[in-house]
Amino acid sequence: MLAKKDAYNIAIAGATGAVGRKMLEILEERKFPVASLKVLASARSVGQALSFNRNSLAVEELNENSFEGMDIALFSAGAGVSHQFAPSAVKSGCIVIDNSSAFRMDPEIPLVVPEVNPDAIGDDPGIIANPNCSTIQMVVALKPIHDRFKIKRVVVSTYQSVSGSGQKAIDELKTQVKNILGGKPVEHDVYPHQIAFNCIPHIDNFLDSGYTKEEMKMVNETRKILGDETIRISPTTVRVPVFYSHSESLNVETERPVSAAEVKELLSRQPGVRVVDNPETNEYPLAIDGEGRDEVFVGRIRDDISCENAINFWVVSDNLRKGAALNAVQIAEYLVHSAKG
Ligand SMILES: NC(=O)c1ccc[n+]([C@@H]2O[C@H](COP(=O)([O-])OP(=O)(O)OC[C@H]3O[C@@H](n4cnc5c(N)ncnc54)[C@H](OP(=O)(O)O)[C@@H]3O)[C@@H](O)[C@H]2O)c1
Repeated sequence: MLAKKDAYNIAIAGATGAVGRKMLEILEERKFPVASLKVLASARSVGQALSFNRNSLAVEELNENSFEGMDIALFSAGAGVSHQFAPSAVKSGCIVIDNSSAFRMDPEIPLVVPEVNPDAIGDDPGIIANPNCSTIQMVVALKPIHDRFKIKRVVVSTYQSVSGSGQKAIDELKTQVKNILGGKPVEHDVYPHQIAFNCIPHIDNFLDSGYTKEEMKMVNETRKILGDETIRISPTTVRVPVFYSHSESLNVETERPVSAAEVKELLSRQPGVRVVDNPETNEYPLAIDGEGRDEVFVGRIRDDISCENAINFWVVSDNLRKGAALNAVQIAEYLVHSAKG
């Protein structure tokens, strides 16, 4: 457990990346009690400066000794870096909040969305895993439905933005759009195909089952977070040429009778959720409106016309905020609020 203090020493591993930069913004916006902030990245970024509360912070190279004297380490530098350095951060006395997939399915490590399962953090966390971005927004919407109606099965298709693959992918989409409109040849590096003006039904590696790792993250992480291995989930994950915010189409079948009206009412009262659902005025969640916002937006809530006890809806959220940096900072805030001493 975190020792109670007026302010805390924070390290961000991967501070120069898309998620790391968002963490800096969110710590500042939410006035997190920061005593000192260390910004860490690879040797490539040494010499760069990042801004926090109008101070310029020099980027340092991440190494085993980076976490001496730190209280909380936020990791957003990929699974390899987390595997290599999170244990040394814990040895240095830090609590690690990890954005990568490195520890999410480790039964000893809590996988946490603060609005859904804060109690999973327990009294003595070493590493706390942040779920995958597509999972977080889905479980925020599913949790109250599961509690009230007991979910049997979810069929989900995602429309995921390129920022979900980091800064290089944002740059790749911008360059491709410019080149296509300028009549120049298109190159791709981050994705296996051109992403501009395209949809790619392939996120992360394919497994022998024919599903991708991203799809199986949605299955396994959702079950772990909701604490129910019986929920059946059938996912298809798709990359779309959108810069920020993931969108998801969900079909949810429940054990108990459910109606769109009840779900709309239930979700309207759920912390972290904003229902935007006025088809008569063309109002429903849009990726461009989700960008820069903290909420998980839900709309197009309707009864499934093909199946009893089932509903359809559409979920949008900023993958860099609620899907990553905000969720991690909310976990850190939970630690601060439960600090003892
Ligand atoms: N993007 C999202 O929406 C999202 C959502 C949920 C979770 N995540 C996870 O968050 C992590 C970061 O994602 P991102 O989108 O921010 O990626 P990104 O933009 O590519 O940033 C990667 C960061 O990791 C640093 N890094 C890479 N190799 C390193 C090394 N060997 N030592 C130290 N630092 C190293 C990079 O530093 P340099 O600048 O020096 O290369 C950069 O700061 C990933 O694990 C990702 O799966 C991302």
